[in-house]
Amino acid sequence: MIQLTRKMRKDLILLKDLSREEIEAILDRGEYWADNPNSRLSASPRNVDNPIVTNLFFEPSTRTRFSFEVAAQKLGYHVLNFDPKSSSTEKGETLYDTLKTFEAMGVSAAIIRTSEENILQEISDKVSVSVINAGAGANEHPSQGLLDLLTMRQYFSNIQGLKVAIVGDIKHSRVANSNIIALEKFGASVLLTGPKEWMPSGLETQVCSIDEAILSADVIMLLRVQRERHSAKVFDSEKYFQDFGLTRARYAMMQKHAVIMHPAPFNRGVEIDGDLVESPRSLIYKQISNGVAIRMAILERSVGL
Ligand code: CP
Repeated sequence: MIQLTRKMRKDLILLKDLSREEIEAILDRGEYWADNPNSRLSASPRNVDNPIVTNLFFEPSTRTRFSFEVAAQKLGYHVLNFDPKSSSTEKGETLYDTLKTFEAMGVSAAIIRTSEENILQEISDKVSVSVINAGAGANEHPSQGLLDLLTMRQYFSNIQGLKVAIVGDIKHSRVANSNIIALEKFGASVLLTGPKEWMPSGLETQVCSIDEAILSADVIMLLRVQRERHSAKVFDSEKYFQDFGLTRARYAMMQKHAVIMHPAPFNRGVEIDGDLVESPRSLIYKQISNGVAIRMAILERSVGL
């Protein structure tokens, strides 16, 4: 069984803390797995001594949780799926004590989704299990940022010089944060547009109108409206669609080479016209496929391989 030393383990908590070279190394390995999705299992079948990783999701997830699980299985790793509702979390056990418990069992990496923005940074130095951020409150969602970068790099060959428009609920979006940070490390320019109250402070110079974003961007990156993080209870989804959604009229205004991205889950008829999800210029399902490849790269890194 692989027992990680502090030197071997590698956390993935914030893209903010990674250099461009470190990000590039993960993208290169992710690209390898995207091109050779089953090569690990045929070269080295599942073995009782292979690493064990655990999924700890304290917020709902379909893509991130299950693509980490698929990625682990393709690598031949063992996966423990932790259900907070049927665990000792319900009896008051803290995240730190839960990680120490898994550490004592020989688990190599913990993939954690939480509503708390800073807990992973606070805990990671106190445990020897590698900590992988699968989405922390409205802070960062680094594996999503990495799979988005991989998808753009595959499509355009180069990220440098791309103009990426992020549309919608940017203030509450960990996906937007990770993308803004990573895209700027790679020399892309990022435009932001959406309702005024959802624009983040400190990035005012990047805010533009929806028309300017649609007309000028190479990538239109739509975001889900994060209603679970809003204090206002009322949301007029029809008005949002008309004001900021990717309607057919806006799709017709996009540059001919421009593409659509969305981290999903998407709400058809709110952020995007339902038929455009599967349009030829939508990379949404490619993003989901790349999620497995990039998470294979993240898991290998996390166990020191
Ligand atoms: N994009 C994303 O994080 O999706 P899930 O919430 O389904 O994991």
